Amino acid sequence: MNMVDIICKKRDKEKLSLDEIQYFITNYTNGTIPDYQAAALAMAILLNGMDKEEVGQLTMAMSQSGETLNLSEHADFSVDKHSTGGVGDKTTLIVQPIVAACGVAVAKMSGRGLGYSGGTIDKLESIPGIRIDLSREEFLNQLQRIGTVISGQSKHLAPADGKLYALRDVTGTVPSQALIASSIMSKKLAISTNAILLDVKVGKGAFMKTVKDAMSLAELMVSIGRYNGRIMRAELSDMNQPLGYMVGNSLEVKEALSMLKCEPTAPDLYEHCISSSAQLLQMASKVKTIEDGLLMAKEALTSGRAFEKLKEMIGAQGGDVSYLDDPEKFPKAPFIETFAAQESGYIAEIDAQEVGETSVELGGGRHQKTDSIDHRVGIVVHHKVGDEIHAGDPLFTIHAHDEGTLADARQRLYAAHVIIPDPAKVLAQFFGIVE
Ligand code: URA
Repeated sequence: MNMVDIICKKRDKEKLSLDEIQYFITNYTNGTIPDYQAAALAMAILLNGMDKEEVGQLTMAMSQSGETLNLSEHADFSVDKHSTGGVGDKTTLIVQPIVAACGVAVAKMSGRGLGYSGGTIDKLESIPGIRIDLSREEFLNQLQRIGTVISGQSKHLAPADGKLYALRDVTGTVPSQALIASSIMSKKLAISTNAILLDVKVGKGAFMKTVKDAMSLAELMVSIGRYNGRIMRAELSDMNQPLGYMVGNSLEVKEALSMLKCEPTAPDLYEHCISSSAQLLQMASKVKTIEDGLLMAKEALTSGRAFEKLKEMIGAQGGDVSYLDDPEKFPKAPFIETFAAQESGYIAEIDAQEVGETSVELGGGRHQKTDSIDHRVGIVVHHKVGDEIHAGDPLFTIHAHDEGTLADARQRLYAAHVIIPDPAKVLAQFFGIVE
């Protein structure tokens, strides 16, 4: 067997065998297959797709490329949630501590930024000292001790996804249903959580642009999880405008902290996080109904227990929790400027993909695998679609590391906003549940 034949087979729209999929994953993970061949295969998969059987086999090969963690001796029942990727999506930083504060163990493996979509691990690394490359023992002990833990892919955990993920980020091979499903589900299956909630984003700033595509991705992932004995649910949620107000790594951590401290919060972010928490609480049988879950989640927030839980988790993973108490400590970008609306009217659109790409250009994401990111840069959008606005009101604020990127971002962000004279509809937040 050789890699060139496997690439050609997928290029010619043929189905790969289990042996070929395993050969690719084993040899890419151990470094025998170079990045350029893996990139060629990823592009062939993106262009020609994989059937359900191939995706299931790719997922299993990836999830078994490193250690698998059996949580049964460390938590009676554990849950996980994962988003397919969006702009301003800091929900994990809020939902994970809320659910853990309600007494349900949450064990999570997250990723870095992918294309124009941010990643939880990059956001967390804004906090000095935090470690996300936990050993097996550290992961399991922390789960048992404080009921919540988060890690990235590592040499030990889902290493195949770690390598492929970084490659897809910079080779235009992200928006493939087969590659997204296998990437997400391989991470989820490498850790034996009992229940998994998937947040499948739909719209301009999502990898799935239509409800139909998002639904088929959701069904594919739910069926892989079910087949492997997990309690599965997927919610389809809007990603036409950024979620919340802030986009960029440390800015998003600050926005998450603000919600956890019950400070004024963007309405879409609040609703999304409380709703996802309620879904997880119901999946864990902590509550009977979603309404009870909403109440329980709100109580975890208002009592301050969710914030304390986040501090406990970050502290346990070496992070400096004084930044959580005093977010003013996060280093600021050298250039911070607010731009005003040039006309009055109603906001009809804030193009999430454009905002996400602008954040990458500011230095918040990567163009090459070896790029480092600037945690300080990003964007604050001051409104949501549907808001009325007057000329001169703040429209967006840019946090940049130099004047050149600030000027480019300003132009792109004005173009990303559409303001119309007549009232514009507030966007729906959810488009259904798959289970
Ligand atoms: N999240 C992942 O972990 N992988 C993807 O491919 C997309 C989102």
